[in-house]
Amino acid sequence: MNEELIINTDACYKQAEEKANHYFQSLYTQVQQKTYAKILTEDIQLWKVNHIRHHSLFSFFSRGNNKTSSNGYHHYIRGLNYTGKLDNYLTRSISYIFMRDLGKALNSPDTEDRIRNVVESLKTHLTSTTSDQNSDGEMISMTGLYRLAQKEGVESTFIWLINKLKIVSANIPTGMDAEHAQRKLIKIIAGVIMQEIEEMNDEVSKEERKQRLEKAIRLGYSYGLTYPFIDDLLDSKILSDEEERKYANLIRTTLTKGVVPELEDWIGNNAELIRYIHTELREAFEYIKAHQQKETRTNFFEQSYVFFHSQEVDRKKDLTYAKYTNEELYIPVILKSASSRLIVRSVIGAPEDEGFDSRTFYYGIYNQLADDFADMFDDMKEGAVTPYTYYLKYHDKRSDLINPFEMYWTVISNLIHQVYHSDKMTREVILDRAINGLKRFKERAGMEKYKEVMDLFASGDAKFNKLIQQMVRKADDVDFFDKLLRDHMITSLKNDRQGQEDFINTAKTIRSQINEVLTIQKTNGMTDSIIDAANYSLQGDGKRLRPIVTWFMGVNAYGLNKSVLEPLLKSLEYMHTASLIFDDLPSQDNASLRRGRPTLHEVYTISIAELTGLFLTQKAIWEQTTLEQFDSKAVLRLIQYSAQVTADMCRGQAMDLDSKGKQLTLAQLNNMCFYKTGLGFEASILMPAILSNTSKLEIEALKKFARHAGIAFQIKDDLLDVEGDTALLGKTVGKDTENNSSTFVSILGVDDAKKEMWENYCIAMESLQDVPRDTTFLKHFLDYIINRDK
Ligand code: IPE
Ligand code: IPE
Ligand code: MG
Ligand code: MG
Ligand code: MG
Repeated sequence: MNEELIINTDACYKQAEEKANHYFQSLYTQVQQKTYAKILTEDIQLWKVNHIRHHSLFSFFSRGNNKTSSNGYHHYIRGLNYTGKLDNYLTRSISYIFMRDLGKALNSPDTEDRIRNVVESLKTHLTSTTSDQNSDGEMISMTGLYRLAQKEGVESTFIWLINKLKIVSANIPTGMDAEHAQRKLIKIIAGVIMQEIEEMNDEVSKEERKQRLEKAIRLGYSYGLTYPFIDDLLDSKILSDEEERKYANLIRTTLTKGVVPELEDWIGNNAELIRYIHTELREAFEYIKAHQQKETRTNFFEQSYVFFHSQEVDRKKDLTYAKYTNEELYIPVILKSASSRLIVRSVIGAPEDEGFDSRTFYYGIYNQLADDFADMFDDMKEGAVTPYTYYLKYHDKRSDLINPFEMYWTVISNLIHQVYHSDKMTREVILDRAINGLKRFKERAGMEKYKEVMDLFASGDAKFNKLIQQMVRKADDVDFFDKLLRDHMITSLKNDRQGQEDFINTAKTIRSQINEVLTIQKTNGMTDSIIDAANYSLQGDGKRLRPIVTWFMGVNAYGLNKSVLEPLLKSLEYMHTASLIFDDLPSQDNASLRRGRPTLHEVYTISIAELTGLFLTQKAIWEQTTLEQFDSKAVLRLIQYSAQVTADMCRGQAMDLDSKGKQLTLAQLNNMCFYKTGLGFEASILMPAILSNTSKLEIEALKKFARHAGIAFQIKDDLLDVEGDTALLGKTVGKDTENNSSTFVSILGVDDAKKEMWENYCIAMESLQDVPRDTTFLKHFLDYIINRDK
């Protein structure tokens, strides 16, 4: 395959422009003749039969329930199910996606069948996951998605993707919206996956399906990356003019030559950002290129170029320039909106499909005008030129300008009747969507603003406008699942991020409070090498996770007073530190670095280290005996439990040492890790519960959580031993290999170890459903465990 591929950019853009111009002229004629009003009035008369109800008392009440609110996602779906509206809701939503994202004609029997199937399975999924009040059964929760990936056998790629998304979001510069970038990326990936699924028939084997899905995920990511990192970045004004020019040139050269040029020295504030983006986009580009078929390759590059260039043309427009023609305003809109969707099929190398191409080409501008309508005030603030902002600004000086709202209705009538041949379902979903768009806008902008906008834009035909406004006021059942999901996704991405940040900040504060009380005081100033040694170990840079968890459990879940918890916090950290001292001994892991400093036996002696370990386990019990505020029976139970945990941890450590060089089974591995690590976390979760006399049932659920969280923690620890950084970890990486230890990584390999970590993550998450308390912090703790790098 020849490496250099030269696209004649001018010629291909010209050709695309000609086609778009042709389409534009046909729309323009229809706008001038105002044919849309009569045609759509008839359509709406037919359509409204299913949307305007005679208000009985019942519908008056049920209407209130229908309010879409982003945090009421489950409630909303339940409500629809209850009122018997779920079927219609899902049918119009899925039909719409088949039309928009998959370029299907809704009247083909095959497509009708597929839509029915998808609706059925989605309905089953939604009603099972939203029925239980306590259930975390979210369509887009990590556990839900991972379980889905498992069903298809694509866990590894899923884990790869999650990691990529994490890195992308960490690299989104301030000034851009990280959640929106993530959401957009996810949407594109979902679109590519859907397209691939529709390309597969029943004869595709499970193995082939898995491979094709994996490829679709990676291709989706690779293509999706261009949204935040090309279009949004160039829109965001983060780059200086000079940087922007250089960056746009880089992309242009790539698309023209088919090869990503090297990044020369980049001077300016954004050098680091650009270096990351360059590397990531190059990898993405190479991946897409490597998976292109020879036949679709040129097509792919040409479409990409048209996509990129039309966006550039649009971006460079200046709202203060008063002389853009209608052609200049609309043709790039037609081009960018069509090419962005046309590319999807060539990204996955799907065979050409003329029907798809032409429907998608005509469809694009509809979507773009709907988006531009919704965003007109934001765009105005940013000085972006769209048909709406331009009309807002120049309508009274330029009588020749097309009113974009009339253009919008013209596009709709053209789509329903010319492109989709007056198909009933198409009419249904497009009108649902159009009325829904106006309703959402009205809700968001408020009555007054909405009226102002309508007075300006909907003035073309008074009678038609009246009808539309009547529909906006009265029509029901025009809402869509993708909008619900979108709102829900943004809220949960934001909440998750905020929650994680809050968790980490609170943990930081607790950590410093714990650090202040850990040091063991000497009695009457005597020299005491054991206490010095203990303090040396305690004062290292430990994360204090176990007492932090105890603090959260004690304070948040059981409402215990912070000050009474102190002995418990100390005792847990003493136990844990003792286990590390033993673990590092030459007879065990023989480590020389711990918590960023030389290990205790290296600074003191082996015998002092051994004695200090023993000393600290006793100190831990001693602390527990000072819990005077609690019922003494409860304290005795606590001490008994704690002694048992320490004893069992010793067993775990013995299993670990005994397993060197042995091929453990997964069950043995899990068991060993539960004993050596899981129990420490179990203790930190259970101790406050024991002191609070919690029910046995709750204890069992918490134990299950702790077991799997603890194992996930140890797997991450094993992974960090091969993938981590000594300076960050404060302990030497590669120790496990050196010791020939049996770890999740040595037994399963990195890839399967990650799967196992996710499996434990999911079970732990799922087990929280049985804990009848606020466990948000445990969720965040779990997220922290698998995401940490130290
Ligand atoms: C290390 O525990 C021992 C394991 C169970 C893997 P931590 O990673 O919590 O160590 P510190 O307390 O932060 O040093
Ligand atoms: C230690 O496991 C388990 C203990 C609780 C001592 P590791 O041996 O993997 O812990 P690190 O990696 O040395 O911290
Ligand atoms: Mg060890
Ligand atoms: Mg060790
Ligand atoms: Mg380790």
